[in-house]
Formats: sequence, structure tokens, C-alpha cells
Amino acid sequence: MAERVLITGGAGFIGSTLCAHLAAKGQEVWVMDDLSFGRRELAPVPDTRFLRVDIRKREEVSAAIRRVAPETVLHLAAIHFIPYCNQHPVEAADININGTIHVLDAAHAAGSVQQVFVASTAAVYPIADGAMAETHPTGPMDIYGTTKLATERIASEFCLRTRIPTIVGRFFNAFGPNETNPHLFPEIQKQVLAGARTLKLGNLDPKRDFIHTSDMAEAMDALLRVNIEGCEVFNIGRGIEYSVREIVEAFARQLGEELTIDVDPARVRAVERMHLLADVTKLKRRTGWTPKWGIDEGVATLLKETV
Ligand SMILES: NC(=O)c1ccc[n+]([C@@H]2O[C@H](COP(=O)([O-])OP(=O)(O)OC[C@H]3O[C@@H](n4cnc5c(N)ncnc54)[C@H](O)[C@@H]3O)[C@@H](O)[C@H]2O)c1
Repeated sequence: MAERVLITGGAGFIGSTLCAHLAAKGQEVWVMDDLSFGRRELAPVPDTRFLRVDIRKREEVSAAIRRVAPETVLHLAAIHFIPYCNQHPVEAADININGTIHVLDAAHAAGSVQQVFVASTAAVYPIADGAMAETHPTGPMDIYGTTKLATERIASEFCLRTRIPTIVGRFFNAFGPNETNPHLFPEIQKQVLAGARTLKLGNLDPKRDFIHTSDMAEAMDALLRVNIEGCEVFNIGRGIEYSVREIVEAFARQLGEELTIDVDPARVRAVERMHLLADVTKLKRRTGWTPKWGIDEGVATLLKETV
């Protein structure tokens, strides 16, 4: 029998790929999303399984999850574009912290939920040069990372209280189709597809661990199949880091044309970490997962999209 899975944030960038992945595996996927950042057409579920609910509304969340009675809840709904969170800290805290409490409490009250996955972020880590394992001390440097560290603690407390196995996935930097927030890949994609060959970008040297959303979906699916006891944290990254400059070079290779960069002072972040790299030993050891998508393959598909 198909497993009933509820994905919050399933109309978003990562959540929509996860929906498609789990639906293709024969699972009965339901989506809860308020469409504030996501798009309805991205969530590949029928209208009957799409719940337009704002996770800040405790009673609505509770009633919806009770009605669906899922076996698994994957909680991805959040706001996470760092400049937006910095400008709207109260909203970021309300959605990312209170919203998580509402979703998890409702999951417990539903009585049907046997496993929970909560999306966290590499932004819970402090500035550091090398690859960081899950045991690395946390130390977020912005409001977004702070709200997500709170999300992790709430997940851990939820698990202790309810004994529902809980997985916390610390996502590193995602790339892939249908990105909803103006991060690096969609920015380069937009400029290149508009015909620019001199790109206006901010800092060029920071390196990030970019992981394709399809690989993330595979990793989450694999984690749901591991026998988790209690609450466990897993990095979800590729374990390779690329600078902004190297990403532009990948676009140039796939385009078959030269791209030059014009550093736009308005886009240069005042506070910037130079490295953010995952140690994914634990994820690989526990699941057997390996990433399949390289940067160049991902960029090639982005150049075929219309934006
Ligand atoms: N994209 C990344 O590189 C990245 C990195 C680390 C962590 N994450 C985390 O992964 C998750 C998914 O991120 P994404 O990149 O797909 O972002 P996204 O903005 O595309 O997806 C988030 C979804 O949550 C929904 N949402 C926001 N506020 C809501 C609310 N109040 N009620 C109901 N739904 C709401 C949005 O409409 C959107 O569809 C988030 O938890 C994010 O913090 C993302």
C-alpha cells in the first residue's frame, strides 16, 4: 500500500522536486504550502492533495494534518532568503520557529505519524575553513541560521517528548530547476538567458557546497528508509565546494562562449563567509547514497529553461 506522505513547502524549489521523487516511487504525496514563495504548478499533486495553509495558523495546520493522517511528515516550509530574513526578522522567526512548533505538534496529535523529517541548513554552522561534520559546534551568523538552529532544537525536543523518530537534514546550497529565491544560480541563469555575456555579480571568491535538488530528494528518501532511533542530524551536501567564479566558468563551458564578470558593489555582501563545506561521511555511511549530479550537468539543464 502507498505510504501517505505530507510535505510542507512542497510548492517550493526543493520541496517540489521531493514531491515528484516520492510520487514517482508510488507514495501518496500531500502538500501544505501557503504559496508565499512557492508556485502551485511546481507541486505535482492533484488539487485534492494540495492544502493552501499558512503554517503560522496553528488551528488550520492541526485540522489539515489530522484530516490527512499521514504516516510521514517532511517539514520544509520556511523562509530562507538571507537578505529577506535580515529585513524581516520577526516574520522569519514566526514562520521558521512557531510554524515548526505548529507542524510538529499537529503531527503528534494526528496519531498517524511514524516519522518526521525537518529541513535545517548549513547556516547553523559558524564560519570555518574545512569540511564540517554534524558534530562541529554550531554558531549561526545571521537571523536565518538562528531560527533554523531553534528549529533543530524544537525537533529534538519533539522527538524526546513524543518518541517519534525525527531526522534533521542540514541542507547545503541547493541548485537545480525552478529556484524560487534570487540566489546565485538563477541570477547567472537569468542574465545569461537574457543575452548578457558580462555578468553583474557580487563577491566572486566565496565557496559553497552546491548540491542538485534531485540528489537532495534521493538523500531524503534514503534517510526515510534508515532505521532512525530518536533524533538524528545529517548534513545533506556533496562534499565539494565551488567558488562563484567557478560556477560562472561552468556556465561558460556549457554555453560554449566566454563570460566576463563585472563586480557590482551593490551586490557585495558586507559580511560573507568564504567557505561552507559539508562532511557527508555520515549520510553516505548510513544510507549508501551518492550524489549523481555534477555542476556542469545541472547548468546544462538550466540553460534549456525559460525564465
Ligand atoms: N535552497 C537552499 O539552498 C537551502 C539551503 C539550506 C536550507 N534550505 C531549507 O530548505 C527548505 C526549502 O527551501 P527552498 O529552497 O525550497 O525554498 P522555497 O522558498 O522555494 O520553499 C519554501 C516553501 O515554503 C513555503 N512557505 C513559506 N512560508 C510559509 C508559511 N508561512 N506557510 C506555509 N508555507 C510557507 C513557500 O511558499 C515555499 O513554497 C527550507 O526549510 C529552507 O530553509 C534551503
